[in-house]
Amino acid sequence: MAPARITRLLKEGQSGDQVEVRGWVRTRRDSKQGFSFIELNDGSCMANLQVVVDANVEGYESTIKDVSTGASVAVTGKLNESPGKGQRIELHADSLKLLGTADAQNYPLQKKRHSFEFLREIAHLRPRTNTFGAIARVRNAISSAIHNFFQERGFLYIQTPIITTSDCEGAGELFQVTTLDLVRLAKLQTEIDFTQDFFGKPASLTVSGQLEAEIYATSVGDCYTFGPTFRAENSNTTRHLAEFWMVEPEMPFYELNDNMALAEEFIRYVIRQVLETCPEDMEFFNLRIDKTVLETLNNITENDFIRLPYTEAITILEGSGQEFEYPVEWGRDLQSEHERFLTETHFKQPVILYDYPRTIKPFYMRCNDDDKTVRAMDVLVPRVGEIIGGSQREERLDVLTDRMTECQLDPDDYWWYLDLRRYGTVPHSGFGLGLERLVQLVTGMTNIRDCIPFPRTPKNAEF
Ligand code: 4AD
Ligand code: MG
Repeated sequence: MAPARITRLLKEGQSGDQVEVRGWVRTRRDSKQGFSFIELNDGSCMANLQVVVDANVEGYESTIKDVSTGASVAVTGKLNESPGKGQRIELHADSLKLLGTADAQNYPLQKKRHSFEFLREIAHLRPRTNTFGAIARVRNAISSAIHNFFQERGFLYIQTPIITTSDCEGAGELFQVTTLDLVRLAKLQTEIDFTQDFFGKPASLTVSGQLEAEIYATSVGDCYTFGPTFRAENSNTTRHLAEFWMVEPEMPFYELNDNMALAEEFIRYVIRQVLETCPEDMEFFNLRIDKTVLETLNNITENDFIRLPYTEAITILEGSGQEFEYPVEWGRDLQSEHERFLTETHFKQPVILYDYPRTIKPFYMRCNDDDKTVRAMDVLVPRVGEIIGGSQREERLDVLTDRMTECQLDPDDYWWYLDLRRYGTVPHSGFGLGLERLVQLVTGMTNIRDCIPFPRTPKNAEF
């Protein structure tokens, strides 16, 4: 029979219930009177179950010395009201079985606090800590809320390909996928013939599922993708990963304002649901990780986001009197410091910037009549900066073809994408939200590498 999970026992367990639990020992204390206290955790919640083991309990004598931090045990017994502070109930063991020892000399997770840098080196053990257990549960709650949000609104969940032959963002940050023998080819020093490669032409890991999502949006209606995406950006920052998860809704008949409204409602919905489903974990983050995280999240759920054209943001930044590391100038992309100034200092709340210069945005964004800007929108939030990037899409065949040429893309390579504009074209919009940046926002963690179980970054793909 499956053992009871500690989260349920702590909430619903009644004095007198006979239960079995299994988990990992956080600490053990032995009393002089000949019994021991075990703090047991099974990962189902932040709190431990206190287990009291008398010396006369079956298995005590032979195993108790090996019941050390990190060891795994199975315990049966009765729940009792706890006389101790900080817990409602405790478990009085009638049997104790040691499942696996954890050599106290070598077990890397000792009781003291470890730095996040150190824990990244032991990513196979870090989910056993309070912080990373909580992040795993919150990431799960966020993922579930994302599906709920779209499912409740009738969006179809579409799985778009991970291997692709087009570069959606046109930034050339692609991880190549090949079965060619690179070592042999390097020795031969010949031109690479991609017709000999697995797909008969260059292929890569996807940077975004958007182009394929547009195909479905213009066929079956509102839809979304939610999957891994890959970017070979050589940026060693606290906000970039080489492999990250993106949610990309795509909606026919939406113009930019509808897109902004959906993005705002989406972020609010997810945050509310996480606050509701993970109150203990959220309290922990607020206490131990970032004392302002709950305040920031409540501010987001309670107030409308600011909506501001890019051009006005530039005016604000130029007039701010602030010393920035990167220059502010119309036509340049905003840096994280600029985004944070707007959301943390100037407006003190999320900001949706829109109508960006076309020269800094990809080919698929709808051109405005001013000939200078496109219907792009970025949602910026405090601490994280850009959390969502999206746009209204160019639905006019001639304008789109011209834009591709301007962006040095060959329209022939995108024949199927252009077909969507040839046959029954409609205005449509969508956006992409980076899951790990949302986890960062919600947990208050400063480094995105701690917001995904196994981070992939330049020179790092361990585990
Ligand atoms: O702004 P981006 O590049 O937009 C797109 O890919 C569009 N095709 C989305 C769409 O319209 N369907 O990326 C979207 C979001 C960013 O706002 C950010 O949250 C996240 O993806 N992101 C990253 N997260 C972690 N590491 C990286 N290297 C990221 N690059 C983008
Ligand atoms: Mg972007």
